[in-house]
Amino acid sequence: MSSIDPDNLPQGEAKAKAVQAMFDTIAPRYDLVNRIMTFRLDTRWRRRTVRSLRLPAGATVIDLACGTGDFCIDLARAGLVPFGFDLSIGMLRAARTTAPLVHADILHLPVGDHRVDGATCGFALRNLVELPAFFAELARVLRPGGRIGLLDVAEPDNAVLRWGHHVYFDRVVPRVGGLLSDKSAYAYLPKSVAYLPHPDTMISQLHDAGFVDVERTLLVPGSAQLLTATLGGRPSVG
Ligand SMILES: C[S@@+](CC[C@H](N)C(=O)[O-])C[C@H]1O[C@@H](n2cnc3c(N)ncnc32)[C@H](O)[C@@H]1O
Repeated sequence: MSSIDPDNLPQGEAKAKAVQAMFDTIAPRYDLVNRIMTFRLDTRWRRRTVRSLRLPAGATVIDLACGTGDFCIDLARAGLVPFGFDLSIGMLRAARTTAPLVHADILHLPVGDHRVDGATCGFALRNLVELPAFFAELARVLRPGGRIGLLDVAEPDNAVLRWGHHVYFDRVVPRVGGLLSDKSAYAYLPKSVAYLPHPDTMISQLHDAGFVDVERTLLVPGSAQLLTATLGGRPSVG
């Protein structure tokens, strides 16, 4: 059982430890619950994210907070060369990808400066302790002209869809997740959205970190958002 308290969201170091322990706990059934909860839309959202990178075959792409490796599989299928990084040993052990996986905190990547062509990150922004530090780390490891695709949950713009989204996400998901996996982890999931800054804040944080062409797209039916951007500077990517 995970020890995270959804009614008292932790901060700082306590958050990092609680998130790591929670994902270690839910790792064995993470993929199953994900597919059921999103009606497999998560797979479509990841493929869309990979396409949005618009990188040539053979480009090196790091998948940050790779979890069980879904993004690495899609990146490899698209002819890219993926490397995954995650803090949870449980998630890494449950991974099914053949891509190299590294146990690391994505706020302190064991990657040299300006070494990679692209980066993806799925459903992890709200789990991080400090978002501007993450964006700065992305800017450090990417080559100028490198691309990022960051995927996370969102609220639909349309009022009716937003109502349905909240009923589903706040009431159904915790029950289904609790039944199939860990109760407190899936009660934390809807509450953890409170950690995610307003989209305008994230866009401005990406600009501050040196990214240009920052775009945000709501993905059908509006319960996921994709942030894409290019690292400023002279392009060195095909
Ligand atoms: C919701 S899962 C997403 C997994 C995967 N990206 C996907 O699309 O299914 C969030 C992942 O973020 C990882 N994570 C959270 N904070 C992290 C950090 N600071 N460094 C590395 N991984 C982290 C967790 O261990 C977990 O595997």
